Amino acid sequence: MQVAERSDTGTGIKAILGLTEEMRIGTTSSDPYLGSPTFDEVPFHVHVGCRPALGTYIIIVGDADEFVHYGRIISGTEDNPRANPSSLQQNQAYQVGSRDPRPTDKAPHVTRVMAAEILGEIHLDDDKNITVKEPNQLAQTGKGVYELPANKIPQLLNIPDSSDQGFHIGRVESGNSSVDFILPMEAIARHLAVVGKTGVGKSYFVGVLVEELVRHGIPVIAFDVLGDMVKATEDLGGCNFKAGENFRVPYSVIGVKEFLGFVPNLTPDQMEIVSFAYDALFNKAFKTLDETAAVNIPIKNLLGEIQNLATEFGQTAVGGRATKKVETAFNRNSLLTAKTEEWLSEFVKKPITNIFVGHLSQQQRNLIVGATARLLQALRKREQVPPFVFVLDEAHFFLPSGGETTPSTLVIREMIRTARHDGIGITLITQSPASMDKQVILTCNTRVVFALDPDDLRLVSGTMGDVSEEMKSRIPKLAKGTAIISSATDIMRHPALIKIRQRQTRHGAPTPNLAEDVKEWRKMQEF
Ligand SMILES: Nc1ncnc2c1ncn2[C@@H]1O[C@H](COP(=O)(O)OP(=O)(O)OP(=O)(O)O)[C@@H](O)[C@H]1O
Ligand SMILES: [Mg+2]
Repeated sequence: MQVAERSDTGTGIKAILGLTEEMRIGTTSSDPYLGSPTFDEVPFHVHVGCRPALGTYIIIVGDADEFVHYGRIISGTEDNPRANPSSLQQNQAYQVGSRDPRPTDKAPHVTRVMAAEILGEIHLDDDKNITVKEPNQLAQTGKGVYELPANKIPQLLNIPDSSDQGFHIGRVESGNSSVDFILPMEAIARHLAVVGKTGVGKSYFVGVLVEELVRHGIPVIAFDVLGDMVKATEDLGGCNFKAGENFRVPYSVIGVKEFLGFVPNLTPDQMEIVSFAYDALFNKAFKTLDETAAVNIPIKNLLGEIQNLATEFGQTAVGGRATKKVETAFNRNSLLTAKTEEWLSEFVKKPITNIFVGHLSQQQRNLIVGATARLLQALRKREQVPPFVFVLDEAHFFLPSGGETTPSTLVIREMIRTARHDGIGITLITQSPASMDKQVILTCNTRVVFALDPDDLRLVSGTMGDVSEEMKSRIPKLAKGTAIISSATDIMRHPALIKIRQRQTRHGAPTPNLAEDVKEWRKMQEF
């Protein structure tokens, strides 16, 4: 436009990136008040008639033909001496207010300056291939600033540009344009944490993710507290189960600590005998699991073992009481069973297995989730189930902060710590990261951050790597269905603002319209 620039045709990097003069939005600037280029941030004068939006990805060219800077617009300001309060006051006082302080964009006294955060450099190698590098050179003043074509964004973020290679989650926003956002396949095996306050779109997003997992044939097991996934599971041809009804776990494979969690009030003597007896059975159970991928050890076997051991120890009476307690606890507990049930064979076949746990107490939920985690990880280690993704909504209840250690939280925590090696991806959803085990959040390489309140934001932002302060400051105000996704740099080079795509499946928990629901309730009362 105004400033003469090197030609954009030819074999230089501008040509390779497809930058044309129509895409130019400004010129890098230097000013004592409005700033000068640093390694992190570069101010630029916005050309007349250009209206780049906040968050737009930009390219800054320089003298060199073989590299450019790229970045993102993070702030802006307009300077207009005729609109300073004192001038405006004078206009009114002297009745000369008819003169418009800002007649057009072209007004010579109106100056617009924006700042771009520098994300990196794009280099052209000898073979005319593009490589992306860390920022290393200082940007120059008086040089062209261009809006980056949206289709180049995936390459800069180092994410796939085809949904064959990843999960189509939504669109990356760049100012007024956008491009499909494909989360790299690898992200899922290195665990996801989905955080945000209530009603911002976390569960909706998980539905999108599950659709994508199913599209790639990756089995999903989800624990559903609010019934959010019930309809989506039907739509995807999966299976819904209800814990304690058609979803139970064999007692013999859940591990001694877990098992003891189901049998309250054992004395130390009784506990010792039960633990010994359980261990013997546990080993047997795993042998059959190894051989047949199923177990069936009636509870009477365990009771017999307890009695035998007690007699060997010369503690027949203690054994008798322990047997009684174990038997009662087992019979009363609807979550435990003697043999592997149908859900396990369905899980191997079906795209998604959704287990409703909303009707259980939190302690029971912990037990069933911990026990299932233990069983599935054991089967996975033996290659008896395929790699899968484990989805846990309301994760702060299962993995509370402050080191609270029930056996189940230990099991779940341990599974998350080691899951990657077993080909198990974990997706945790929480509205309250501050009340969740920090170590577990840190284990999740990818974070999907929806609008958060400042307290929770403080906690999460410490784990968000290279999310700029400016981007963090916008998190409390993110619109519903919009999230900042950040990850390990080898999965995704920079955090990005993503608009989550529409669901293909039904979402199970729409925000209720209380006014309508009250009317409905009153109508019901009339009958
Ligand atoms: N990307 C989206 N596109 C369209 N609608 C959305 C999107 N995300 C969320 N919504 C709407 O917002 C509502 C609330 O979203 P969602 O159930 O995902 O909230 P949540 O973050 O899981 O809240 P909670 O923590 O209370 O469970 C949904 O019922 C849906 O109608
Ligand atoms: Mg939810």
